[in-house]
Amino acid sequence: MKKILVATVKPFHPNAVESIREICSKAGYEFNLLEKYQDKSALLEAVKDANALIVRSDKVTSDVIEAGKNLEIIVRGGAGYDNVDLQAASKKNIVVMNTPGQNSNAVAELALGMMVYFARNQFNGKAGTELRGKKLGIHAFGNVGQLVAEVAQGFNMDVYAYDPFAKEADIREKGVIPVQSAEELYQTCQYVSIHIPANDKTKASINYDLMKRMPENATLVNTARKEVIDEEGLQKIMKDRDDFNYISDIAPDCKEVFEENYEGRFFFTPKKMGAQTSEANINAGIAAINQIKNYFENGDRTFQVN
Ligand code: 3PG
Repeated sequence: MKKILVATVKPFHPNAVESIREICSKAGYEFNLLEKYQDKSALLEAVKDANALIVRSDKVTSDVIEAGKNLEIIVRGGAGYDNVDLQAASKKNIVVMNTPGQNSNAVAELALGMMVYFARNQFNGKAGTELRGKKLGIHAFGNVGQLVAEVAQGFNMDVYAYDPFAKEADIREKGVIPVQSAEELYQTCQYVSIHIPANDKTKASINYDLMKRMPENATLVNTARKEVIDEEGLQKIMKDRDDFNYISDIAPDCKEVFEENYEGRFFFTPKKMGAQTSEANINAGIAAINQIKNYFENGDRTFQVN
């Protein structure tokens, strides 16, 4: 009997867990749940006899992979898989997958929600500004970027996008204006929303040079990873320009500097919560277990990332 472990420090919505449990039971798999664990030893113990592991942003480091002697597949219920040591998994022939697109709408809604909240001075009673007619730059036109564009169009924003991996025609088809470089995107748009993955090429790539190009009353929106921001550059731009704002669903490491110096010019959710909706959890959780089932039963590797 295959053993499936769902290990999430930040639990999936209970309905998502119930759905995974049901699918496991119908498929004849044993279901195990480890939620809100305080330290890695709990994960190392729980993974020991699992054939499949489902996680969210939980760190699946080489020691976790070593401990999972029977592991055949790891599925990150979500988009970003920078939390999984792909090399260590590949070395042991463990398949790693993500569930692309399943939680994108939640992230897109939060990005726009934070923009409205911030444009209205965090609902402090003072007159704010509107999004209508403002230029929004989408940095990477993947699943989330495309949905952010769609929601922003509902607000009548002028939407631009930069994505070296997307076809210009596909961007235009969505009513979005493609630009040729990240530099052009940042210098064109008062709002920029970041949707690039975190990898060796993109880490710290949103640097001072890019940020300083943004027009007056700039707002940079980050619902990607905090690692893609060059925090030295971010601190410098916040210091140099009092019209520069930064809002994110993940606080930067230099959060205290913001709290001490830049009141009213930033907003961070208390923990990463772009994908924190019941719908996103249910979609991602069900996709994860179905992908595992499909791999075990049919050898389907469609969403493999290693
Ligand atoms: C993702 O990569 O899918 C999002 O950042 C969501 O991460 P989470 O599952 O930890 O909320």
